[in-house]
Amino acid sequence: MTAQLINGNLLSQTIRADVAKRAAALTARGRQPGLAVVLVGDNPASQVYVRNKVKACEDNGLHSVMEKYDGDMTEAALLARIDALNKDPKIHGILVQLPLPAHIDAHKVIEAIAPEKDVDGFHVSNAGLLMTGQPLFRPCTPYGVMKMLESIDYPVRGANAVVVGASNIVGKPQAMLLLQAGATVTICNSKTRDLGAHTRRADILVVATGKRNLVTADMVKPGAVVIDVGMNRDDNGKLCGDVDFEKTKEVAGWITPVPGGVGPMTITMLLVNTIEAAERT
Ligand code: GUN
Repeated sequence: MTAQLINGNLLSQTIRADVAKRAAALTARGRQPGLAVVLVGDNPASQVYVRNKVKACEDNGLHSVMEKYDGDMTEAALLARIDALNKDPKIHGILVQLPLPAHIDAHKVIEAIAPEKDVDGFHVSNAGLLMTGQPLFRPCTPYGVMKMLESIDYPVRGANAVVVGASNIVGKPQAMLLLQAGATVTICNSKTRDLGAHTRRADILVVATGKRNLVTADMVKPGAVVIDVGMNRDDNGKLCGDVDFEKTKEVAGWITPVPGGVGPMTITMLLVNTIEAAERT
């Protein structure tokens, strides 16, 4: 069997066309949706992500501001910037790119963002709303994964879903969204014993660990949907995910490539969340 690809670029195009329409309608009413992206330090991967986020705004009619600061910025200075963005009526979404330098308390910074502008959905109040089934913002990557499952009309209700990785950014909110869609969810982490015994039971397998080739073909149930959230470099410097794509695509029913899978969807859902924030004002 050769799996069908779930193409994140193609799906993004469709969703971004709708985003552009909604952005134009808001702009016509004098409320152009605006996103502020804040980057502290010079992490090369973060610089690329942030640039892509700002470009996606520009391409789809959203206003964006990029604030770049040196790695030695103080926590107090960053909190002051967030306070100013919270009060700026042109800004509907605030994203502080993670990771932050070690001397800055990331939790404190996330809690300083006004929950109604927290388009990442990381604020404890938004995490709580998600957990209790009344999300204000769905975190972008898990939201994108749900859109990918929707795009193949996958019957999530009653399916066995296994999420490998338990981060606040992906694994935990992903599990919540799958649970709310009616899946039976297992969350695995770096200490899970016999990972394959869990993953082999998955109808839907979402892998988000940042470990190249962690999931191999023998760990995948034939016909499963395999969603690879990983973003790593192979020995030749080429982008790759957490799943051994070449062999696993012969076992899975559907699979997402890296690049061109979940990555573009994360940015697309950030645009959607920013539009939603602006529509609520
Ligand atoms: N770093 C890695 N992924 C993300 C994300 O989705 N949002 C933010 N703010 N930082 C990240």
